[in-house]
Amino acid sequence: MSLPDGVERRSFDDRQRLATRGDPVYGEPTDGPWRLWDAGRSKLGAMLELGLDTGLSGGESVLYLGAASGTTVSHVADFAGPTYAVEFAPRPTRDLVDVAAARPTLFPLLKDARRPETYAHVVESGLDVLVQDVATRGQARVAARNRTFLDPDGRLLAAIKARSEDVTRDPSAVFEDVLDDLRGSYEVLETARLDRYHDDHLAVVARPREE
Ligand SMILES: C[S@@+](CC[C@H](N)C(=O)[O-])C[C@H]1O[C@@H](n2cnc3c(N)ncnc32)[C@H](O)[C@@H]1O
Repeated sequence: MSLPDGVERRSFDDRQRLATRGDPVYGEPTDGPWRLWDAGRSKLGAMLELGLDTGLSGGESVLYLGAASGTTVSHVADFAGPTYAVEFAPRPTRDLVDVAAARPTLFPLLKDARRPETYAHVVESGLDVLVQDVATRGQARVAARNRTFLDPDGRLLAAIKARSEDVTRDPSAVFEDVLDDLRGSYEVLETARLDRYHDDHLAVVARPREE
């Protein structure tokens, strides 16, 4: 599967790894203007490494839910267009604001992704991509509530963390339930376990169903 424009495989320590062009954020190695995008620290990076058909080609408008300190969303902003980054914990959001200072198209929002009505006045609709990595109970509900921002031809790229839903159940059973819930508002196009990079996480590529 081809990588989006602005994402390349480059050699770091004699291994071909993903990289984007931008200011370093988390101490990652650099090669001139390129910085390593570490799939072990990024579920979206892992999706690209594993060759999922994300539909990303570069320049997309993005809503990113669960931005934390900006590790992954900084790479997204390096190759995408306007990138709205929602995070509800104040401490990581402070770091995220620093990350955004060097990236004019990255807009940090200290908001709760379960309450999209609180940022609907800031975030445009008709977005190309909704990236979700919230690691919270009710991940399908969060995706459903934020579908309103997506273009009908847009894509949901979600990382579902089994332990966030239920630490006691078998992850496969949890994933089936989350997918069943997601199917109420999305058509699931592809799924893949991310265990090679992230234990007990399922990647989901989906498109919104008509409302
Ligand atoms: C696994 S971390 C995200 C890592 C990040 N996506 C990355 O790759 O750099 C999950 C984040 O989701 C945030 N989160 C959980 N529930 C949330 C909610 N309802 N609204 C916004 N952020 C939430 C957590 O505070 C945490 O920072």
